[in-house]
Amino acid sequence: MKEKRPIIALDFPSFDHVKHFLAQFPSDEKLYLKVGMELYFSIGPQIITYLKEKGHSVFLDLKLHDIPNTVKSAMSVIANLGVDMTNVHAAGGVEMMKAARQGLGKNVKLIAVTQLTSTSQESMREDQNIQTSLIQSVCHYAKKTQDSGLDGVVCSAQEVSEIKKATSEDFLCITPGIRPKSSEVGDQKRVMTPSEAQIIGSDFIVVGRPITQSQNPVEAYKAIYKEWNENH
Ligand code: C5P
Repeated sequence: MKEKRPIIALDFPSFDHVKHFLAQFPSDEKLYLKVGMELYFSIGPQIITYLKEKGHSVFLDLKLHDIPNTVKSAMSVIANLGVDMTNVHAAGGVEMMKAARQGLGKNVKLIAVTQLTSTSQESMREDQNIQTSLIQSVCHYAKKTQDSGLDGVVCSAQEVSEIKKATSEDFLCITPGIRPKSSEVGDQKRVMTPSEAQIIGSDFIVVGRPITQSQNPVEAYKAIYKEWNENH
């Protein structure tokens, strides 16, 4: 089931930046917002409380990776924050992912990062000593993620169809690296438009700079929303 709202990556350094950004949207517009390490480590858990009190949905993107017991305890704290989705690194292993699920409970979506989209096949072979192809590694991790009882993975939109084949149609694929046709690509290497992501079967898209750095964030959001929902 696709989420209709594009998830906006709130990659801002301070509370003031977040408030200024959100003030541009109608007060009754309920958004789906991603809080990453920068914002969470600068403001702390009160950023989550603030966003939830405003009625927004929150994806807390901290990519946990530690021993199972530590991740389980951290996840039970995250569950109390009331987020809607959060994540771990699949490289932490099946025991860690199962522990994450136990700590978090069933009501929050839990997804895993397989290979970061910044990892190339060469760096994976050299740094991690994994000698398969990148897509084989991604699909292997996706399968382990599903076996551990998680809901899906963060991945490149290019990987969605292979991942769904290796897992199942209802296994969620959350895809960043989305750029509407006319926008700047920035440092993202492999990008897709919202409608291409829609056609290829992404369940959620994550969009940062094309909205947050736009002259008119609300218009940019609306255009991406429309493109993402065209053929739903
Ligand atoms: O500005 P942009 O649209 O590139 O932002 C994408 C967001 O998704 C950023 O917050 C980035 O950290 C995140 N992300 C990503 N690629 C991944 C995982 C997360 O771009 N593989």
